[in-house]
Amino acid sequence: MSEPLAIPVLSGDLVTLRPHRESDAEGVFQRATDPLAQRYTTVPLGYTPEMALSYVTEFTAPSPDQICWAIEVDGAYAGSIDLRVLEVDAGAGSLGYATHQDFRGRGVMTDAVRVVVRHAFEDLGWQTVRWEAHAGNWGSAKPVWRTGFPVPTFVPDLLVERGTLVDGWISTLHAPAPHGPVTSWDEVRAALERSA
Ligand SMILES: CC(C)(COP(=O)(O)OP(=O)(O)OC[C@H]1O[C@@H](n2cnc3c(N)ncnc32)[C@H](O)[C@@H]1OP(=O)(O)O)[C@@H](O)C(=O)NCCC(=O)NCCS
Repeated sequence: MSEPLAIPVLSGDLVTLRPHRESDAEGVFQRATDPLAQRYTTVPLGYTPEMALSYVTEFTAPSPDQICWAIEVDGAYAGSIDLRVLEVDAGAGSLGYATHQDFRGRGVMTDAVRVVVRHAFEDLGWQTVRWEAHAGNWGSAKPVWRTGFPVPTFVPDLLVERGTLVDGWISTLHAPAPHGPVTSWDEVRAALERSA
């Protein structure tokens, strides 16, 4: 069995990434019961405060399969972001995230994605990081575009959500991380608009 991956404290311009704490449970509960999170993530419906407590104490604990950080802004819980191992020998992983509703639209996830991708490539030696989202999740597409991910591809039935297949967007970034967008946002919009 592989060793658990460490959850280092990492700093961005706006965010601090750190392991989750019990005191994050209330913020996790609010984020997980938010309609946008329920629409675009696999968070269970009927989420309870007990589930939030188990998320911060058990699910996000160090594991060989994933690194899950709490995002902190000005001392408050502002969301969660994770790197999941897809194939350890290939240095391949994927990225997942959600911002607490009170912190959206101020660049929190853009900063967190940049920090996490740098960690994947520079510290873990990964070769690729994959992002997937529901087709139409423009708010999720922006942070990866700003980090330098290529224009996403539309894939019908890409994702399984609560037992149903849904259309998705996918993009894979290869090491080394670029220092910013590699295309214009207009190019992303033009490529994806018909599938949104
Ligand atoms: C997607 C999400 C993580 C983005 O987090 P955030 O901290 O608000 O992200 P940022 O502020 O760094 O960037 C979001 C950008 O998308 C834009 N955006 C958000 N919703 C949008 C929409 N419906 N249409 C177009 N643009 C949108 C924001 O205006 C912002 O762009 P700007 O900086 O040019 O103004 C957040 O909306 C969220 O938690 N959504 C629910 C869960 C989710 O979808 N997770 C991702 C699953 S793949």
